Amino acid sequence: MSSRIPLLTVAVSFFLLAGVLVWIATQERGRPSPEPRATAQASDAPGTSDERPAGSAPDEPASTTSAGPTADDGSQPFTPPPRDALPDDEFGAMVRKGEQVFTNTQEHAGQFVGNDLQCANCHLDAGRLADSAPLWAAWGEYPAFRGKNKHVNDFAERIQGCFRYSMNGTPPPRGHDVLLALQAYSYWLASGAPVGESLPGRGYPELDEPEQSPSYARGQDVFESHCALCHGDDGQGQRAADGEIAFPPLWGLRSYNWGAGMHRVNTAAAFIKANMPLGATTLSDQQAWDVARFINSHERPQDPRFTGSVEETAERFHGQYSTYGQTVDGRRLGANAPPAGTAPASPSP
Ligand code: HEC
Ligand code: HEC
Repeated sequence: MSSRIPLLTVAVSFFLLAGVLVWIATQERGRPSPEPRATAQASDAPGTSDERPAGSAPDEPASTTSAGPTADDGSQPFTPPPRDALPDDEFGAMVRKGEQVFTNTQEHAGQFVGNDLQCANCHLDAGRLADSAPLWAAWGEYPAFRGKNKHVNDFAERIQGCFRYSMNGTPPPRGHDVLLALQAYSYWLASGAPVGESLPGRGYPELDEPEQSPSYARGQDVFESHCALCHGDDGQGQRAADGEIAFPPLWGLRSYNWGAGMHRVNTAAAFIKANMPLGATTLSDQQAWDVARFINSHERPQDPRFTGSVEETAERFHGQYSTYGQTVDGRRLGANAPPAGTAPASPSP
């Protein structure tokens, strides 16, 4: 996949490669990896600082690892317990199971998944990484009212939502071991964290509105130069020789559906700015907005709340940051979406 890299992008490719290597290292099973990506952060990469709009330097995450040094604003991200601190008892076994479900959802909860994603694809470092919607910051914030379903959700229901939308699946029923394990894992990661207090590093750091409204054409350029290497020219991700998903898809039948938070351009921009390209988070805010607009201007599985009409579904459930229902290249987004939740789970290798 590297034969098409023009010489001028060699420097960029170096950081991308570093990202791949770090990522592969963290995938090795059974190996504790407390601070996997800290060394691959390239926020001070030469030649990139001029891409930042003036005055935005403090927004650059100094380090996105949960156990990293003090952030620029002086706040210290919470540090979850190291993996080897897990007790060797029944509780520890349930926490371990939760970690496995979270990092290899295809294998450990495949019956509830309708695409090629793992929970940890969007919650990096197994849900430990600050600014990557870490589980330790989420745990103490529930029960909470959610505008999305207009009632108070407990943590289990919040997780069910990610199965239904982000994983394009059928959520495990209440009381199922998969939900219990994910809760045990989140609770344990939050050991010692305050309850009901929004911790620094929660969610994805929101970006200011872009100077220029997000552009599909500019986003395509960003995609081709910064993303396609890993996620594939067609955004469909890439599998390793053994069939295992090496890089997750960004759109299409096997990606998150039209109801997922990531389909909103502002949410994807925030995630991308803080976390992508993996190991080389050097995009300007504008580039993050543009590429978010580009990836979310492709068809993906239908919104599970689909009413039978794209127009009505857009009107009822989709706000200003959604591309659902818009016309791109003569195609109405959502109009040709495959039904939600129907992609068969990938065969385990
Ligand atoms: C396609 C990306 C994606 C995948 C895959 C995904 N999530 Fe999420 N998740 C999100 C987004 C986006 C949010 C909202 C983050 C925000 O509000 O800033 C979120 C939020 C959450 C939250 C609440 C975080 C908070 O601070 O309130 C939890 C818990 C969660 N996800 C768990 C899971 C679990 C468990 C899985 C797997 C079953 C999963 N997620 C899969 C994108 C994803
Ligand atoms: C070095 C390889 C690499 C590059 C380059 C890269 N990514 Fe990723 N990306 C990954 C990996 C690996 C994951 C899953 C992370 C994990 O599981 O730890 C991911 C996850 C994602 C996700 C969430 C999961 C999904 O499939 O929706 C999005 C969105 C994403 N990347 C967007 C981008 C964008 C946009 C770019 C370009 C600006 C980019 N990535 C560049 C490797 C890469």
